[in-house]
Amino acid sequence: MQSDAGWFELVVTSHQALAEQVVGLELRSASGDRLPAFDAGSHIDLETPAGVVRNFSLCNAPGDVYRYELGILLEPGGRGGSRSVHEDLTVGARVRVRGPRNHFALQPAEHTVLLAGGIGITPLLAMAEQLHAAGQSFELHYCVRSRNRAAFLDRLSARPYADRVHLHEDDGAAGQKLDAGRVLAGPSQHARLYVCGPAGFIDYVCGAAHAQGWHDAQIHFERFSADPQAACDPGDRFEVVVQGVDGIFTVAPDQSILQCLTKQGVELSMSCEQGICGTCAMRVVSGEPDHRDMFFTDSEHQSGLFTPCCSRSRSTRLVLERI
Ligand code: FES
Repeated sequence: MQSDAGWFELVVTSHQALAEQVVGLELRSASGDRLPAFDAGSHIDLETPAGVVRNFSLCNAPGDVYRYELGILLEPGGRGGSRSVHEDLTVGARVRVRGPRNHFALQPAEHTVLLAGGIGITPLLAMAEQLHAAGQSFELHYCVRSRNRAAFLDRLSARPYADRVHLHEDDGAAGQKLDAGRVLAGPSQHARLYVCGPAGFIDYVCGAAHAQGWHDAQIHFERFSADPQAACDPGDRFEVVVQGVDGIFTVAPDQSILQCLTKQGVELSMSCEQGICGTCAMRVVSGEPDHRDMFFTDSEHQSGLFTPCCSRSRSTRLVLERI
């Protein structure tokens, strides 16, 4: 397996339509070797044929050591990454990936509630597999606009934990639609909630969870799309210094810190460039950051974590360090 700053090459061994606008990919090493291990909630960075690096959650069971399984939604308004995966990553294609990494790991709990909106099902599938394998108590709620957009239904209905899976269709009968207040009522303080999906879905579920008495520490979420406006709003010109790197770099109003630094030859990791994956994380040493990501929590921002792909500076100079 080749390694180039953590990147390695895999082969597409399956490419199939799972639902409207969703394809499933299976990736394996060309030599049949084991792949780097992962646990539920992990993602890999994938270099799409369009040249855009995107991260995708691994949705197979974590004990599955010879393949990675992904579910990829076509995003017509995106930068072409998902379209090129849908159209060009057919069986036999080679693809460069990096990882896996996990910013959405399961924590010990006496009961776990998994709530997925649309393609947000992917990390929660791996979580359901891991919780089932460990004999842990859980329930999975899968919300979709309509049944034809629900990927993985056949797989879920065939699993031994199928009775713990609840499908909620927006265009279905009233009684089966998601009532987050009811699902999340009366939480034990030892329960945990994992939410993944579009921003509006996460806001709705987290709002319902708070209203039902869930504490922040019990709620874990991962967004699948950013508010592009908020992430890309330009700002003032300011200076950035990176500890251990010579020079003071001026970030233009229409440029991200990440774009500025990479243009100057400073090597940094990046993936979504929208503030939703955490790949580019750095730490603030001094200055006043203007956090615009949707990845880190308030307390993580207060601890100094910072996303240079979308966040900016309120002070004239920001000093950062790589982590
Ligand atoms: Fe994804 Fe910065 S590259 S948060």
